[in-house]
Amino acid sequence: MVKISIDGVVQEVKPDELLIEAINRTGGSVPHVCYHPQLGPIQTCDTCMVEVNGSLVRACGTRVADGMGVSTKSAEVAAAQVEAFDRILSNHLLYCTVCDNNNGNCTVHNTTKLLAIEHQRIPYRPKPYEVDNTNPFYRYDPDQCILCGRCVEACQNVEVNETLSINWEDPNPRVLWDGGSTIGESSCVSCGHCVTVCPCNALMEKSMLGHAGFFTALRKSALTGMIDVVKGVEPETGYGTILQVSEAEEAMREHRIRKTKTVCTYCGVGCSFDVWTKDREILKIVPEHGPANGISTCVKGKFGWGHINSPDRLTTPLIREDGTFRQASWDEALSLIARRLSEIKEHDGPDSIAFISSSKCTNEESYLMQKLARAVVGTNNIDNCSRYCQSPATMGLFRTVGYGGDSGSIADMEKADLVLIIGSNTAESHPVIATRVKSSHKLHGQKLIVSDLREHEMARRADLFLHPRPSTDLVWLSAISRYLLDNNLADTKFLDQWANGLDEYRKSLEPFTMEAASRISGLPEETLRTVARMISEAKRMCILWAMGVTQHSQGSDTSTAISNLLLITGNYMRPGTGAYPLRGHNNVQGASDLGSMPNTLPGYQSVDNPEVRQRFETSWKVALPSTKGLDNHQMVEAIHGGKLKAMYLIGEEMSIVDSNANYVGNAFAKLDFFVVQDIFFSNTCQYANVVLPGAPSLEKEGTFTSTERRIQRLYEVFEPLEGCLPDWKIIQEVANRLGAGWQYQHPSEIMDEVASLTPMLAGVSYERLAGYKSLQWPVAADGSDEPLLYTKRFAFPDGKARLFPVSWIGPADAQDSDFDLHLNNGRLLEHFHEGNLTYRTEGIREKVPDTFVEVSPELAEERGIQSGTWVQLVSRYGQVRVRAVVTDRVHGRELYMPMNSVESPVNRLTSSHTDASTNTPAYKEASVHLKVLSEVGENPLPRVNSRFGHPTPQSGVEVERKWKRPDYVTPGNGLVQLQTMK
Ligand code: SF4
Ligand code: SF4
Ligand code: SF4
Ligand code: FES
Repeated sequence: MVKISIDGVVQEVKPDELLIEAINRTGGSVPHVCYHPQLGPIQTCDTCMVEVNGSLVRACGTRVADGMGVSTKSAEVAAAQVEAFDRILSNHLLYCTVCDNNNGNCTVHNTTKLLAIEHQRIPYRPKPYEVDNTNPFYRYDPDQCILCGRCVEACQNVEVNETLSINWEDPNPRVLWDGGSTIGESSCVSCGHCVTVCPCNALMEKSMLGHAGFFTALRKSALTGMIDVVKGVEPETGYGTILQVSEAEEAMREHRIRKTKTVCTYCGVGCSFDVWTKDREILKIVPEHGPANGISTCVKGKFGWGHINSPDRLTTPLIREDGTFRQASWDEALSLIARRLSEIKEHDGPDSIAFISSSKCTNEESYLMQKLARAVVGTNNIDNCSRYCQSPATMGLFRTVGYGGDSGSIADMEKADLVLIIGSNTAESHPVIATRVKSSHKLHGQKLIVSDLREHEMARRADLFLHPRPSTDLVWLSAISRYLLDNNLADTKFLDQWANGLDEYRKSLEPFTMEAASRISGLPEETLRTVARMISEAKRMCILWAMGVTQHSQGSDTSTAISNLLLITGNYMRPGTGAYPLRGHNNVQGASDLGSMPNTLPGYQSVDNPEVRQRFETSWKVALPSTKGLDNHQMVEAIHGGKLKAMYLIGEEMSIVDSNANYVGNAFAKLDFFVVQDIFFSNTCQYANVVLPGAPSLEKEGTFTSTERRIQRLYEVFEPLEGCLPDWKIIQEVANRLGAGWQYQHPSEIMDEVASLTPMLAGVSYERLAGYKSLQWPVAADGSDEPLLYTKRFAFPDGKARLFPVSWIGPADAQDSDFDLHLNNGRLLEHFHEGNLTYRTEGIREKVPDTFVEVSPELAEERGIQSGTWVQLVSRYGQVRVRAVVTDRVHGRELYMPMNSVESPVNRLTSSHTDASTNTPAYKEASVHLKVLSEVGENPLPRVNSRFGHPTPQSGVEVERKWKRPDYVTPGNGLVQLQTMK
């Protein structure tokens, strides 16, 4: 700590702390408009002027130094602050009473009050620009824009989409999208960062406009009239009176606007935020305190909530009779389920019934689902959709380091010197994680290597982009490992101390010469040597991977090869290092953690371990099955084989997200009894005998576990829609109809039971997760958690990691003369998976109305295809009709099809081949034949899609350009007008 004097009082402050933070933390107060702790100093507003050792400085742009003498209250300081703020007000109409941003957190309003401004010395001058309403989610009003630049900083350096800038040299500066486009036709990805950090009403969510205030829903003419009235009385009354009126209105809002914390329902990043609501209306999403995301979100978390109040919501149970569905009461539906499951269990045994839990549901619901399967029905036939994506990564980590989860946190990815991304379209599938990598790469010299078939955004940003042949990652990764070992570039000290199996592993690498790797993967040897050199030079490396690795017939082995590489380079056990298999769904980590797996009880405790079973049996007061159950791939086979008769599935669109969808659908049609619980009548519901209306995440309490093993609470934003029930209540009802006698009143009681039975989660409780608090498992009984795993030992009995030999086999479903093209698939930023939720948000539909297939320019030319051409894709398993998008994101004879379609799902084309160790489908190994159809339609990506934009990268707000304006002088040196008329 260092000592500084603030207004004559000596304070101990942290060395290098920003002065503004030091003043605020030690009880002082200094106005500040542009400063935001998560953006850092951008120094555009000048309102934070203080005196340091006799000179005026910006408190946000000054670091403390021992012995500093600071005055925040001198007459010079006060004059400078008022002058600076006066300039701000010349850009902004203060009509707070009729403003939708009058919610107590408007920085302009609050600073006006703090500085006791009564009248403006510099009159307000409108800017010569129209309001831009062309984005479906937010609008920009130049006349309200105070040019603080927060939005620019957020877009350039936090989101790093690099869309925004300010034309400081213009006589009338404003915020620009792509240097002067409309928002709608710009590269803006609608992540909302800019809107979130805007300190006033210049950038606002459209969902707020006309909805938040008591007087803001007026017709435009009436509103303008009221604004004129407000402005008209200002010269006489001063702002004090006007602010008092607006504060009365603001106080009224306090009673009708609720702010409830939740966790995002989409991907595994685990963004959390407040949801502002008025009755059942969502006013806006406010990210601020989330431990994973801070101010960050992507378009889905910020704006993708149209599914909540969709008229399509299921609100009553349905029963299929004579091929059609009829509405039924809960009592009738639950009685039917209990009767049929009992009959089938009686007749065919408990293992003729299977359960699919949901990675969209809470941990508590996943726990109850597996308890229902095991303790009530008596089967281990329980699985979740991690089988479709993450099980191979988990297997690779179980084999080598012991825990099946990210070895560190998102913060470690930020700290790394080198990030290697393999088979992950991070900017679209895990957008907020991508922001952290993009930012470290842009601002802090982090190196980035990306290996992928597609040249997506991260690939384009990378220092080195590798495009290996499909399904050959294992080969080049192993060759790098061998090269490092052969050339004494491995971390031998780390290996001696922390790894077993080096000799056997080294032997297993014999086939992986650079020559062989180059021949098989198609990557030049020189490129591979460059990769090896970059890895060996990096002090801290993180490897991020996703479904481009796992959804292969050797997904587990390739994940193992990744972890082996991290081990031989000593890239575990330290901040800024480690393995990061990016989890896809919001709670896919938790669904497996909580035991919705055929071989493990909660906390990955094996079902065949008698000591474990006994602990659960004592608690649950039942005998438990001891043999591994069926995973979801085996369930489909068992239905076709006549062994599996009934299934209870929650919240999974399995009939189109499982591979070889036609085969899966045919299986479901054979079930004797099928219960599907969902919030919409999904494609899978078509096969059901009973459909139960569950509740989305905003209508229940519980916890989710994100990719960084972070457990977070979600609170009930809305009561469940009439007729629906939270899924945990439905599972309990089903269990009790089958005789269970459960009496959980609240999900916290379920978590208490989990903690009592699961060493990995022993210290988890709702109190410890209150509000924005979170825990990253393992959590000891005393509540201590482990954001970074393996700091003291690896999770094996001897504390050492295990190098695990793997060999390469090659892809299934390879191309031949009939099926000559490789088909890749994955997510798109705007939609989540098949789009059952996201298509219900109109703005997202506007940006991406349909699926498509990406075709390379070379192939397009060869086949006479243009964007919009309808093509038929035919595989060995099915066919779909889809429009083409011609793009250089894909190369040669490789196609890419996003998953966002229920009508033409890519999985009609994928096979039933699986990863040998986990049965995860080899979704990424598909071969197709492409037939060009005669019609040419619209480009499936409309012009308003961000992919057509032209970003304008720059270093940030670039306030130095403002300071160079001829009309700019530092406040305190005389009054100047910030803008001059043309
Ligand atoms: S990408 Fe668009 S929404 Fe996101 S910060 Fe930039 S301008 Fe704002
Ligand atoms: S639009 Fe941007 S520059 Fe204008 S007030 Fe909002 S954050 Fe500041
Ligand atoms: S979808 Fe993922 S990145 Fe986007 S807001 Fe939700 S959790 Fe965050
Ligand atoms: S808060 Fe310091 S210059 Fe804006």
